Amino acid sequence: MLKRLLLTGAGGGLGKMARQRLGHLAETLRVSDIADIGPAGPNEECVQCDLGDARAVELLVEGCDGIVHLGGQSVEDKFSVIANANIHGVFHLYEAARKKGCKRIFFASSNHVIGLYTQDQHLDHTAPPRPDTLYGVSKHFAEGLAQMYHHRFGIETALVRIGSCFPKPVDRRMLATWLSPDDFVSLVERVFAVPRLGCPVIYGVSDNDDCWWDNSHVSYLGWRPKDNSAVYRDEVYAKAPPPAKDAPEAYYQGGLFVVEPIREE
Ligand code: NAI
Repeated sequence: MLKRLLLTGAGGGLGKMARQRLGHLAETLRVSDIADIGPAGPNEECVQCDLGDARAVELLVEGCDGIVHLGGQSVEDKFSVIANANIHGVFHLYEAARKKGCKRIFFASSNHVIGLYTQDQHLDHTAPPRPDTLYGVSKHFAEGLAQMYHHRFGIETALVRIGSCFPKPVDRRMLATWLSPDDFVSLVERVFAVPRLGCPVIYGVSDNDDCWWDNSHVSYLGWRPKDNSAVYRDEVYAKAPPPAKDAPEAYYQGGLFVVEPIREE
């Protein structure tokens, strides 16, 4: 069991669920967000912190032996917003981890690192990145940063390219990208249980019948996702007619992100 697990982004959609379900992994769960997320529950500490503030992040990481890093800008925005949370912020986090001796991180990367591949392409961890947005590029930056901190300083990171982690899939694309909350939790459990993690890219996706991504290189984690989006297929199909074959949401892995405008400031 970890002594103190830091959960960033605890005020977000995924963070709220993780806060409820990851407490068993550590004696103390330190939950953090730029937003107010207090008060602390049993065995919890709450710290309000902007990831863009290097000194605050150093204090945030102090005393933690594991981090689940969900905090940051989670959709496309202007570059300054992306840069503060996802570029400066992730640098501050790894610097703090190096200085304070934290050795293992679960990093919420994204399918938008490979969003410009088409939906008929089958990818594993060796596929060169094809980010679809500034957001996707920022996640690719973080993956590179994590690799450097792994090879130079021995910090291990699970680079989890999350597909779509929601209670259930709500559109056709999500039939291939869905990661169930239960499978998310079991992945975090394995990441902190294995004796040697390394710094692997892991596709954060359930055991869906529709499948674009191959995780066979991380079988050593012993992670066996159990849920399958196929049970929601009829429900999803009933909601909306199929998009045109060449519509971005039917053509690219990143869906509608690929047509987001570039916002400078
Ligand atoms: P979210 O937007 O609901 O939560 C992100 C949290 O980060 C928010 O509570 C926000 O206040 C916090 N945050 C933003 N800027 C910050 C800053 N400068 N300092 C500190 N905290 C800051 O996003 P969600 O859906 O919970 O996603 C969590 C993580 O997983 C994100 O990093 C996202 O990019 C990643 N992800 C999520 C997917 C999903 O399906 N939910 C898919 C792919 C990646």
